[in-house]
Amino acid sequence: MSAKFDRVFCLTGSGISAESGIPTFRGKDGYWRNLDPTKLATAAAFLNDPETVWQWYRERRELIRRSQPNAAHEALMKIAADSRRFLLVTQNVDDLHMRAESEGRRLSPEQIVQIHGDIFVTRCCRCDFSRREIDQDSSGVPKCPRCGASMRPGIVWFDEELPPHEVARVEEFPEDGACDPVLVIGTTATFDYIVRWALAAKGKAGRLIEINPDETALSQFATEAIRGPAAQVLPQLVKELTEGRHTAFKDGFFLERA
Ligand code: OAD
Repeated sequence: MSAKFDRVFCLTGSGISAESGIPTFRGKDGYWRNLDPTKLATAAAFLNDPETVWQWYRERRELIRRSQPNAAHEALMKIAADSRRFLLVTQNVDDLHMRAESEGRRLSPEQIVQIHGDIFVTRCCRCDFSRREIDQDSSGVPKCPRCGASMRPGIVWFDEELPPHEVARVEEFPEDGACDPVLVIGTTATFDYIVRWALAAKGKAGRLIEINPDETALSQFATEAIRGPAAQVLPQLVKELTEGRHTAFKDGFFLERA
């Protein structure tokens, strides 16, 4: 069966996992409303107090293990199945996009970039040894079995560079900028690379659709904003896009759904 979409680019943030019970960062109940990111999500914080940093990440791992992908994760799986080329760039370190299934299919590793890392990876601070701890956790500050150095969560922290090979994958995908649609879901677009990547993917002709209950740094660039929770609005949007009957503009104004 021929694909309905030639090239689809998706960007997600913590908002897409909110309806799976995982807190966002900057929302009213978000992590950064109650915790200080510089004490938990930086390399400096880890050097200063690795035990506390590990405790926070283990608590988040446990919450994610108890959580399930929601209808938004599954809707992205559906549009991926209808796309000749599909890339999902997620800022989320949870594995809900990887666990989401639609008709028995999941996204392939080539279709996903976890630009801020994978919370289930434990990696050495010194050599390149790493392992995934999906079902169980090490305890305390784990030591590398190869070189004996301390091990850390496989996360990109605030004071660290993004992984160059992952950045290259993101920036090569749009090639001539003809992604349509570009879906940006559940992110404040706090980091300028998120806006930059969404605009590069949209190019001149792509539809840039934002799915978020609130306005964000990206909203001014969107061709359409759907103001609702992703698990409620994304399945309908994907269905309309797939059936070719989604109309964004009404008399030249943004279509905003309650
Ligand atoms: P934020 O907490 O900054 O933003 C979450 C966004 O999701 C907000 O715009 C909410 O309005 C929206 N939202 C909340 N519930 C939603 C729902 N049900 N459906 C759709 N949208 C919803 O989280 P991120 O933008 O992901 O980085 O934050 C980006 C990065 O900053 C994270 O990856 C993390 C954080 O610090 C690192 O840890 C390095």
